[in-house]
Amino acid sequence: MSIANKLARKELIDMVPYQSARRLFASGGATQGKVWLNANEASGTGSYQVNSDSINRYPDFQPQKLINAYSQYSEIAPENLLATRGADEGIELIIRTFCQAYQDSIIICPPTYGMYAISAENHGADIIKVPLTSTMSLDLTGLKAQVGQAKVVFLCSPGNPTGNLLAQQDIKAALELFAETAIVVVDEAYIEFSPAQTVANWLEHYPHLVILRTLSKAFALAGLRCGFTLANTDVITMLSKVIAPYPISTPVADIASEALANPGLEHMRTRVNETDTLRTQLATWLNAQQWCSEVFNSDANFVLFRCKSTELKDFIFNGLVEQGILIRDQSKQQNLANCLRISIGSESELSLLQQTIINSFTTTTAQTLAQEN
Ligand SMILES: Cc1ncc(COP(=O)(O)O)c(C=O)c1O
Repeated sequence: MSIANKLARKELIDMVPYQSARRLFASGGATQGKVWLNANEASGTGSYQVNSDSINRYPDFQPQKLINAYSQYSEIAPENLLATRGADEGIELIIRTFCQAYQDSIIICPPTYGMYAISAENHGADIIKVPLTSTMSLDLTGLKAQVGQAKVVFLCSPGNPTGNLLAQQDIKAALELFAETAIVVVDEAYIEFSPAQTVANWLEHYPHLVILRTLSKAFALAGLRCGFTLANTDVITMLSKVIAPYPISTPVADIASEALANPGLEHMRTRVNETDTLRTQLATWLNAQQWCSEVFNSDANFVLFRCKSTELKDFIFNGLVEQGILIRDQSKQQNLANCLRISIGSESELSLLQQTIINSFTTTTAQTLAQEN
């Protein structure tokens, strides 16, 4: 037995880390030669100025110009913001701050974003599942039955991998249910695709509401690793005790601040409009395919769809992988049998994807497969 295996926490020995899009198709760092439609990233990049004048100094704990820029953009006061290394770090901090290891639990509503469970498992927090209903809405009766059983409730709106928004009255009902017993996190990683639906303006009414945001999606900065936690000052103070002393590096603060001011914001809004158009076109195309049984409504930068059989799902997924086009298989998630998720890349990437699928169905085996189902 290796020294690492001998000394590590027991539960880590068999734990499977988050199968991120990059890990699943590790390519030695190179993204060339592949079409990446599996991580809900944006397709284009921006061009940014980085100043190395003060790179010999540690950055501020929370770089002021970044916090001010996000405050202006989000209309949330600076004291209600915490900048983190992506929204993922926000998830981890919330669990580490509010859950006593091997004692407390979190609630998740699958199908949902995988990192809530991974971060909980990593910390030794238990996971209570209250699945979404068949219409991908919150199961308020199921949530009510768990009041008092968990310290943190994770809601995701728009949801990943489903893409739909949760009804605001349901989020409000969940906030009322857990008012005395749990932090309610609303993950708004994709909120730029339906900004009017944010619940950030509810923060002053609900001291236990926490909102997660990121620059990885609509801002096209997934490689930067920059996210924000929005919460009341008492919550921010607690999280600040747990976060690393210098979470945001100087180049990250520079680039993110630039993206959050014009013309960066205008570029983001243009990107969102283009993404919305391409998503509608892709959903219409998917709906017309013989092998597709369901296309889920999406208010985000991806589309989830269901294939008529497992054979068809594997045929499409593997056929795309063979041509270097990577999408995400979501079929192991609760109630998502035979479902695949496509991120909205560029127009040419999506055309290539459609053409590749069409071409694969011209072979006799594929046509037989499609007719059988
Ligand atoms: C719902 C949701 N929350 C959080 C994240 C993590 O975002 P970040 O890149 O800011 O860590 C993702 C990334 O895919 C996501 O889909």
